[in-house]
Amino acid sequence: MDAVRIYGGNCLCGQTTIQGSKNASLPILAATLLINGICEIENCPDISDVYHMLRLLESLGCRVEREGTLVRVNTKQLSKCDMPADSVGVMRSSIMLLGALLARTGSVSMEYPGGCVIGARPIDLHLQSLRRMGVAIEQQKKGFCAESMRLKGAVFQLPFVSVGVTENLLLAAVLAEGMTVIEPAAREPEIQALCDFLNLAGARIEGKGSGRLIVHGVKKLMPVRYRIPADRIVAGTYLCACMAAGGEIFLREAPVEDMESVLEYACSMGVTIACETDGMQVKGRACKRIPGVLRTGCYPAFPTDMQSQFMVVMAASGQPGQIEETVFENRFRIVPELCKMGADISVQGNTAYVNGRRKLCGAIVQAQELRGGAALILAALAAQGTSIVTNRHYIDRGYEDIVFRLRELGAKIELA
Ligand code: UD1
Repeated sequence: MDAVRIYGGNCLCGQTTIQGSKNASLPILAATLLINGICEIENCPDISDVYHMLRLLESLGCRVEREGTLVRVNTKQLSKCDMPADSVGVMRSSIMLLGALLARTGSVSMEYPGGCVIGARPIDLHLQSLRRMGVAIEQQKKGFCAESMRLKGAVFQLPFVSVGVTENLLLAAVLAEGMTVIEPAAREPEIQALCDFLNLAGARIEGKGSGRLIVHGVKKLMPVRYRIPADRIVAGTYLCACMAAGGEIFLREAPVEDMESVLEYACSMGVTIACETDGMQVKGRACKRIPGVLRTGCYPAFPTDMQSQFMVVMAASGQPGQIEETVFENRFRIVPELCKMGADISVQGNTAYVNGRRKLCGAIVQAQELRGGAALILAALAAQGTSIVTNRHYIDRGYEDIVFRLRELGAKIELA
């Protein structure tokens, strides 16, 4: 049952609610480790990455309870600082626990984190930056041990923008001695959510949403209740489902204010989008060529996590297009699978050329990572005939019951 069957070629019609954000909930769950007490996290998505993060927290001695989308993390009994290899191995965000655990316990040992196979994704900058905050790190073949008596604030001029490094440094800095400056800091809405959570708990972070974050270390954080914002990538994925298959859908709670670059590209491809107070209405099918190149980049530029879905939209639109991936070096793994469905796409270096003139047809294809896997389902919705997408577990890492949600949107899809 690790597959989905899709009967393609039908327009979508319906509405669904957008789940809480994966990339906001993971670092915020890690941040609960900084607080001695019970934190309540609302709107936490029911996805496997969150499941693994909660398991990791439990393995460290935290008590975790879930009631629907509300998660309670009680860190009073935090005891261990060794993380189970199987959860660390499947999820790159486990690296997020490093900064928080060092701040709380002063000692961590873990294996190198896993995650999607979309590039080398080293953690060199995480380790190098934490060393500058006074952490002694001993690296071995499979993992590393990190220790610090007391984290010290530092001024960082980072060599490039990294979401994960910005988050890890924030988590290490809020309880550190003195001031920390992170520049250039990532500006993603999920970083802003982490800043909101930490400041609510008593941290002193300035510059939220800018490329320069200043953290004044405080002695203690207090337990809080916080609501995770809606997932802009999930909203973007369902938007692309409509753009590829055609139809009219409503995405309740879509965080439109965080989706500017995606909505701009979507409108330029000929769909109609109406942003309302409670969500977003999408109408039509993509039928126009994107002017120029679709280039991924750090927020507020076009997100790399939406790149595969737009490749599918281009392939289904009947128009040619060009995509340049600037964030991860191996994010075109979906291309051979799309070619099995009749797409005509070639890759040269970090650029993909989509010749949209061929029609997509149903096929058996294999998900190889999270966003590319979801994009294959979109291709199947647009294709003529029946498709099977295998390796559903990759998609379950980030999408809450995608089969149910797409059915709400009128798709003919079932578990296989
Ligand atoms: C986060 C997101 C992911 C998104 C990505 C870029 C989470 C859980 N994941 O991933 O969905 O696609 O941001 O928006 O929020 N790098 C290094 N050394 C390091 C760290 C990163 O070379 O120590 C490189 C990476 O290989 C990559 C680039 O920096 O090429 C950007 O990665 P980063 O922003 O750190 O992405 P993640 O935090 O892993």
